[in-house]
Amino acid sequence: MKKRIKMAVVGLRFGEYVVECQILGQPGMDAIELVGVFDLDASKSSKIAQKHAVRQYASLDEVLGDPQVEAVGLFTPPNGRAELIRKIIRAGKHVMTTKPFEQDAADALAVLEEARALNKIVHINSPEPLPDAETAQILNWQEAFQLGQPVSVRWETYTRNHEQADGSWYDDPAQCPVAPVFRLGIYGINQLLRLCGKVDAVNVAHSRLFTGRPTPDNGELSLQFENGALGSVFASFCIDDGQRYANHLCIHFTRGTVRSEVTQTFDNHDMRAKKLSLQALDSEGRVVTRSVNLESEQLNGKYQWENFRDAVRSGQPLAGEIDPELIAHGVQVINAMCEADQQGRLVVIPELHSREPSTERPVAMYPPVKIAT
Ligand SMILES: NC(=O)c1ccc[n+]([C@@H]2O[C@H](COP(=O)([O-])OP(=O)(O)OC[C@H]3O[C@@H](n4cnc5c(N)ncnc54)[C@H](O)[C@@H]3O)[C@@H](O)[C@H]2O)c1
Repeated sequence: MKKRIKMAVVGLRFGEYVVECQILGQPGMDAIELVGVFDLDASKSSKIAQKHAVRQYASLDEVLGDPQVEAVGLFTPPNGRAELIRKIIRAGKHVMTTKPFEQDAADALAVLEEARALNKIVHINSPEPLPDAETAQILNWQEAFQLGQPVSVRWETYTRNHEQADGSWYDDPAQCPVAPVFRLGIYGINQLLRLCGKVDAVNVAHSRLFTGRPTPDNGELSLQFENGALGSVFASFCIDDGQRYANHLCIHFTRGTVRSEVTQTFDNHDMRAKKLSLQALDSEGRVVTRSVNLESEQLNGKYQWENFRDAVRSGQPLAGEIDPELIAHGVQVINAMCEADQQGRLVVIPELHSREPSTERPVAMYPPVKIAT
């Protein structure tokens, strides 16, 4: 078995969950060895360091100066994440981090390109380095059955959550644009980019049905892909049919359709297993059908710890690893969604060029956020 990667975790609110439910147990424990923790809030670092008998670092510089640390698990908020990653890779360490990758798309691209040049691995849970099992299955069917190009794709997720206003960022449309899509639909956006390629333009629609917040609880993002396909990501806090966060997908290609349906749920109504079904025409015009069952652990948005270990140990990206441009493009789509919401119109996504970081950070389109999923 390959040697585990010695990792320090930085940012310990969601990072505490990552330490306790991802790294110190399955799914990450065979790939990662936790060596220490750091948060700007020293009480968090000290609590977790003591609880798990690992080192408490006093600063990021101290983490980066520790020769035993091979990688940093970075679970700070997204605003300015590229800057922190730049510092970490320049210190010779690899990075596992979380969605959303950054708020500044050009800076995201610049740091991912720099990581490639330095042979440093930077992985994230969404978009994942390699396609999740559902996405990979659809891409395989597209090729094996010559389904042609995507024409239309619909992705949806929902739960029932009647929230009250509390003055937090959830109440601010500038910080939480098209709230259900921003909070729940980001996994769908990244999955659709993998399946359909880049997006030319976006628009949004939303409503408030039951929420006590000023932000919507029912929202939809429309996507016009460069290849002509049309897509939508629908997310809602207004639906309770005994199934939460199902992440349904229906994608039509020119010669076939793939649909997902939930086949099993946990007692708490989270999805446990899905069936993915294909219907297509073969070259002689006969109908072909296929289906596969997928467990929830195989679906998108998961941290690919073993792939991270393999990439770090080989010192290069995995074969077929996602391009930096597509990760940065996902950031552009979120920013365009925010602009479409603020301006009430279709927003065309400009071509992206990476740029060297300036000492003065650009004004973020929306301020630092806390994200709950
Ligand atoms: N399912 C998921 O994958 C999932 C779920 C929840 C949150 N997240 C992501 O995790 C990230 C963090 O979310 P959160 O809810 O914990 O945010 P948060 O703002 O509540 O907490 C961030 C923590 O990081 C610390 N921190 C901030 N800057 C730091 C720095 N420079 N060095 C060290 N510590 C620093 C803060 O003190 C705080 O404890 C977000 O990008 C969020 O989207 C992912």
